[in-house]
Amino acid sequence: MRPRPHYGDRDMGRIVYLNGDYLPEEEAKVSVFDRGFLFADAVYEVTSVLDGKIIAFDGHVKRLQRSCDELGIDYQVNEDELMEVHRQLVAKNDLKEGMIYLQLTRGNPGDRDFVYPPADTPVTLVLFTQTANLLDNPKIKTGMKVISVEDQRWSRRDIKTVQLLYPSMAKMAAKAAGVDDAWMIEDGHVTEGSSNNAYIVKDGKIITRHLGNEILHGITRAAVLAYAKSAQMEVEERAFTIEEAKAADEAFITSASTFVMPVVEIDGVTLGDGTPGESALRLRELYLEESRKQAV
Ligand code: PDD
Repeated sequence: MRPRPHYGDRDMGRIVYLNGDYLPEEEAKVSVFDRGFLFADAVYEVTSVLDGKIIAFDGHVKRLQRSCDELGIDYQVNEDELMEVHRQLVAKNDLKEGMIYLQLTRGNPGDRDFVYPPADTPVTLVLFTQTANLLDNPKIKTGMKVISVEDQRWSRRDIKTVQLLYPSMAKMAAKAAGVDDAWMIEDGHVTEGSSNNAYIVKDGKIITRHLGNEILHGITRAAVLAYAKSAQMEVEERAFTIEEAKAADEAFITSASTFVMPVVEIDGVTLGDGTPGESALRLRELYLEESRKQAV
């Protein structure tokens, strides 16, 4: 297979998946009446690919099923079928390192109506690949800088919906402030980053918000906490304030697209000596080592 052209930051000429078909990206079309388009009535997953292999597939498909169930979207995940689609996309696009994006909508009722369409309305299922330098992300060396912003998202952040306008606004606020990302704050406590889970480290203890409706239950989070515990690192799952974060020894984020990424500055306050923290770097190494072993 010929290498797929990749211009600047954008993949071109991809083969994408739409409702059972593999199509050139310019031929994949979704109706203007699709509820994903009109109501953001859709859920998604982002799964990382390293060495052409899929990381933590099982966790992502289980969360996809949960998101559908929570929203009453009548869809039964078939893990084998979805795995085959992921593999096909990796092969057809010659993807070595990057992500697979999956979006599933409540489908196309043929009109705009606040009432859900009948349960037997077929869902719309789209998957595509995106190339990215996940391993050699330059931010690993410098660490990320973040600002805090008020968390103005809806209150079911545990469901991975495509309502991403506010996180996108938060990201833009961060860019405008000359930093990398925003940590969102509710009642003085950090919920999570714009598209990642947030952690601080104090006196060797890793602190991250407990699970609930306020944050997404990160697949990377679950793995990283398990690896931390098996490496005898102390973990505390509880809400922490932004002041506590600014006084922390170190901080980091996790997600499928960043793995473990150090944070060195919060609202202009430098953490520790301003370089990536020891725990963050150790956890990144552990995460990569274990995930690669389990990649399929
Ligand atoms: N975002 N919190 C939020 C709000 C997220 O959007 C994400 C993931 C995470 C981390 O979850 P996981 O470890 O399962 O990737 C936490 C993806 C990467 C995205 O929207 O691109």
